[in-house]
Amino acid sequence: MRPCERLSVCVLAVLCVAAGGAHGGKVLVWYAEGSHWINLQPMLESLVDKGHEVTVLLPNTSMYMKASDTSRYRFLHFNTSVTKESLEEGMEMFLRFTIYEAADMSYPQLIAAFLDMVGIHVKVQLRYLDGVLKSESVMAKLREGRYDVLLADPIFVGSEMVAELLDVPLVFSLRFTAGHTFERLCGQLPAPPSYVPGPLVKLTDRMTFKQRLANFLFYASQDLLAKWFWSSADEYYTEYRGKPTSMCELVGKVDLWLIRTYWDLDFPRPLLPNFKFVGGIHCRPAEALPQDMEEFVQSSGEDGIVVFSLGSYIKNVTMERANVIASALAQVLWRYIGEKPETLGENTRLYDWIPQNDLLGHPKTKAFITHGGTNGIYEAIYHGVPMLGIPMLADQPDNMVRVEARGAARSLHFNAMQSQELLDALQDVINQPSYKESVMKLSRIQHDRPLSPRDEAVFWVEYTMRNKGAKHLRVQAHNLTWYQYHSLDVMLLLLSVALLLALLLVKSCGFCVRRCCGRSRNMKSKSKSKAE
Ligand SMILES: *[C@@H]1O[C@H](CO)[C@@H](O)[C@H](O)[C@H]1NC(C)=O
Ligand SMILES: *[C@@H]1O[C@H](CO)[C@@H](O)[C@H](O)[C@H]1NC(C)=O
Ligand SMILES: *[C@@H]1O[C@H](CO)[C@@H](O)[C@H](O)[C@H]1NC(C)=O
Ligand SMILES: *[C@@H]1O[C@H](CO)[C@@H](O)[C@H](O)[C@H]1NC(C)=O
Repeated sequence: MRPCERLSVCVLAVLCVAAGGAHGGKVLVWYAEGSHWINLQPMLESLVDKGHEVTVLLPNTSMYMKASDTSRYRFLHFNTSVTKESLEEGMEMFLRFTIYEAADMSYPQLIAAFLDMVGIHVKVQLRYLDGVLKSESVMAKLREGRYDVLLADPIFVGSEMVAELLDVPLVFSLRFTAGHTFERLCGQLPAPPSYVPGPLVKLTDRMTFKQRLANFLFYASQDLLAKWFWSSADEYYTEYRGKPTSMCELVGKVDLWLIRTYWDLDFPRPLLPNFKFVGGIHCRPAEALPQDMEEFVQSSGEDGIVVFSLGSYIKNVTMERANVIASALAQVLWRYIGEKPETLGENTRLYDWIPQNDLLGHPKTKAFITHGGTNGIYEAIYHGVPMLGIPMLADQPDNMVRVEARGAARSLHFNAMQSQELLDALQDVINQPSYKESVMKLSRIQHDRPLSPRDEAVFWVEYTMRNKGAKHLRVQAHNLTWYQYHSLDVMLLLLSVALLLALLLVKSCGFCVRRCCGRSRNMKSKSKSKAE
């Protein structure tokens, strides 16, 4: 064999090994609930498709996760002292608060109640973490597993601690944390308050002076409160490790952040190399509807249908609110679904569950009435369906502000709206061409990217596995103090030098002036004495 031939064989062999590195990786997934779990699944499916082994940590108390969900993942069970009743009670409390009680509260009351809930949430999460850390069998399985990456939604606190203990690269998938505190304070993602509106403050990126002041104060208050939010976690981590450990410090070690938003919904902002924006990760082309549903949709004739959903958390609303919605819908559907109805209600069908994506992708769908959850909004953008928002909780009002700012939606207040208002708004969204045009523009932006969000997310998870972490993408800001970060020490020095120079200048000028004056006085006195 000639040397160059041998060389090419070697190169080929090396290439094969390098390319094969990411195949058959072992992915560990931290538990998640509700829409957060739904959001993780498309990525997990793709990882399985690509030949990776996906193991999901599954607590014995969960409202949404079931081992029967899919046989494509392995499950690692752990026990938690959290009871199903307390979980459901907490959820009920949260919904009651956000839908009904919050509306009557003053701003300070609202903040206090919100903080209270975040505090409770963190404490509950720590009990789940406790179930993992204090179980020798679970920890042994985690160690033996030799996972290549841990994937987590950081709303469910604790993955950062497990990643640290197992020394496994950590990838976060999240929409946002309260006040962007994890991203900004722990992840070092810059968020200038002058043009990056905080989450939940319902502002756009164009702010008046008063709004910028409000946004600034919001971030500042979140910075102060964050320490307090996290205090129970800090205490727990410190006690467990026997040395001072803060949650934020561990969160700051995350290798990669996959943020579930994109520049069709969110406003442009400064980025870091280890933050990837993968909004619309769960979107996919529509599939055929079930037979009876397709017939119902087809019966709408020229007028088309309206899809209405309040998301995965809200199952029932008060009768009075339900009536307001139902009577408006009945009228709308009477107008937009064929001519035949004898009674109004006949045109509104209720389903326990709808194939929302397939309905939104149906050519007969004219509008989407939504609670403003990110998933639904992204599906509507993906399929180009204008929206009518009735936001209720969490980030929903904020999401609707964004879609409204792009002219692709109208928004109503859930507690205050009347049937006529709902009807008028819906007709507006359907009949005014500007809403459809705006949402089609967003849709083009959503589709026009080098990789689909799902492929992009999978790429970065594989990248993290291949490179044994992605710490090389982390900025040095993590190792700076706040005054170094803002170059306050440098400015202080420069200011001191400038002051010193100014002082010297003043002094020397004073000296010159005195000398000159002194000389002229001398000369005067000399000339005076001459004259004498
Ligand atoms: C969970 O608790 C049950 C008993 O309640 C026990 O049989 C099971 O082994 C425990 N599982 C783990 C993973 O510790
Ligand atoms: C989960 O396991 C713990 C410990 O074994 C037990 O106390 C608890 O009742 C279990 N919860 C459920 C919902 O099964
Ligand atoms: C929703 O239904 C549950 C029981 O099914 C009930 O306890 C609760 O009060 C209802 N919520 C509202 C807002 O009507
Ligand atoms: C940051 O500082 C710590 C301790 O001072 C050090 O161990 C670490 O290597 C530094 N990180 C980088 C990226 O330089």
